[in-house]
Amino acid sequence: MSALSDKVALVTGGGQGLGAAICRRLATDGAQVIVTDIQAETADACAKSICADNGMATPMTCDISKTGDVSKLVQDLRSRFGKIDILVNNAGILSAAKWADLDEADFDRNVAVNLKGPYLMTKMLLPLIRPTGQGAIVNMSSTFAFDHVSSFGLYSAIKSAIASFTVSLAKEEARYGIRVNAVAPGSIDTEMNQSLKDNSKMMDRVMALTPLRRLGLPDEIAAAVAFLSSDESSYITGQIVRVSGGYINPY
Ligand SMILES: NC(=O)c1ccc[n+]([C@@H]2O[C@H](COP(=O)([O-])OP(=O)(O)OC[C@H]3O[C@@H](n4cnc5c(N)ncnc54)[C@H](O)[C@@H]3O)[C@@H](O)[C@H]2O)c1
Repeated sequence: MSALSDKVALVTGGGQGLGAAICRRLATDGAQVIVTDIQAETADACAKSICADNGMATPMTCDISKTGDVSKLVQDLRSRFGKIDILVNNAGILSAAKWADLDEADFDRNVAVNLKGPYLMTKMLLPLIRPTGQGAIVNMSSTFAFDHVSSFGLYSAIKSAIASFTVSLAKEEARYGIRVNAVAPGSIDTEMNQSLKDNSKMMDRVMALTPLRRLGLPDEIAAAVAFLSSDESSYITGQIVRVSGGYINPY
């Protein structure tokens, strides 16, 4: 029997990058995976490739920042699956700007997707997770949550909030057998880091602060998420697990 047999797992932002790697890994471990994304085509493609490899996956489109979208998704999930065992709040966006230059629309959009989205998904899915008696929620924070990097102030602030959300939610939901943890990736080789990869000076700086001297791989984040989703981590809750090649920010 695989580690996640009989589990239903939902991953937000599952169409590409870390989300797609997480979907593939959870399916490999035996879960029935719901691949949600704001982009229908990438969610479809990810689910198709999992099914082609004999995994179980269903694509569903949802903008996690919109109450109406999330509420419709939850209704569909209730009738089609009846329960959710694992929720991975992965979807996120990244905007770089100094606070003085950050415009209000960008501020609102980042808060809506990166903070309100996980809140809406969690609040509305808890009624499907609690009855399982052993749910797992994994949030996606970042090493920037602790580093407060210049020009990424809003992103850092929100990822700190996700870390805090993780710990308080873990305390609140423990009575329902739900464990809540977060992964804090360092710099991982995905589209989100294209501008870093294109900037050799910046890349040298990041590598100088990364003892393992390389970008992480999406599969290395997926492995941590799979562990935190499974019974292998049954006594771990309220933790923020850095998966960052030892990245240390000196500022
Ligand atoms: N890549 C990294 O190095 C890194 C490091 C630390 C943290 N993270 C975090 O990991 C998560 C995934 O990052 P990634 O690198 O895979 O990013 P990515 O940009 O490659 O993928 C993000 C996915 O989220 C989806 N998405 C965006 N807005 C959405 C919305 N409103 N509703 C639903 N889906 C939406 C996108 O369509 C996309 O498929 C993010 O939360 C990010 O902040 C990434």
